[in-house]
Amino acid sequence: MTQDELKDAVAAAAIDEIRPHLYRDTVLGIGTGSTANCFIDRLAELRDDFKGAVASSEASAKRLQDHGIEVFELNSTGNVPFYIDGADEVNAHLHMIKGGGAALTREKIVAACSERFICIADASKRVARLGAFPLPVEVIPMARSYVARELVKLGADPVYRQGVVTDNGNQIIDCYDFMIDDPVAMEARLNAIVGVVTNGLFAARSADVLLLGGPNGVERLTPSE
Ligand code: 5RP
Repeated sequence: MTQDELKDAVAAAAIDEIRPHLYRDTVLGIGTGSTANCFIDRLAELRDDFKGAVASSEASAKRLQDHGIEVFELNSTGNVPFYIDGADEVNAHLHMIKGGGAALTREKIVAACSERFICIADASKRVARLGAFPLPVEVIPMARSYVARELVKLGADPVYRQGVVTDNGNQIIDCYDFMIDDPVAMEARLNAIVGVVTNGLFAARSADVLLLGGPNGVERLTPSE
């Protein structure tokens, strides 16, 4: 199977996971990226079975609306029963690196408001240790150089993602050569740097379920102890 076919297979598995729990008043949390897009495209078939969605990016909001799915502001919905999103890396505890698409802050906000986080990913995203994928950090623009210097002190090689402005009007620094032994502690440590809006470690609020697509089909995994 190609990587695109694997992404579509996990999107289909996520539809199967949530379909029994959809009601006319259900609002779903929806992520960002190519795997989330596969899910949005499949969700279109069910548009009459639930109320709508909260999106983690302007791009996903547009894709949902183009399919006739109503998009709500998170402030008007309260918590959502499910958040469905991809990942750049995911480990056995279902800690993730996210933000390759620069949507990490809104993704983390919607994930925080979700009762169940379903991560959908092809098998290339599964790792023993997080960090081979450069960790994104969203920063307030005027703090970018200061944050970069602090990241160097922590052992990272920070690289400004040129030309990218997040949906929140901020900038992204990607941390290269930064393998992470304790994702929960590092997530908190990075967030404590003044000027950091969010970092792409999703460990304090990890996924509850991972639907992982590989050559033998879709595996359903839950966090290991
Ligand atoms: C966007 C994200 C995405 O979930 C992550 O980059 C995975 O994307 P894809 O499904 O395209 O591989 O965090 O900010």
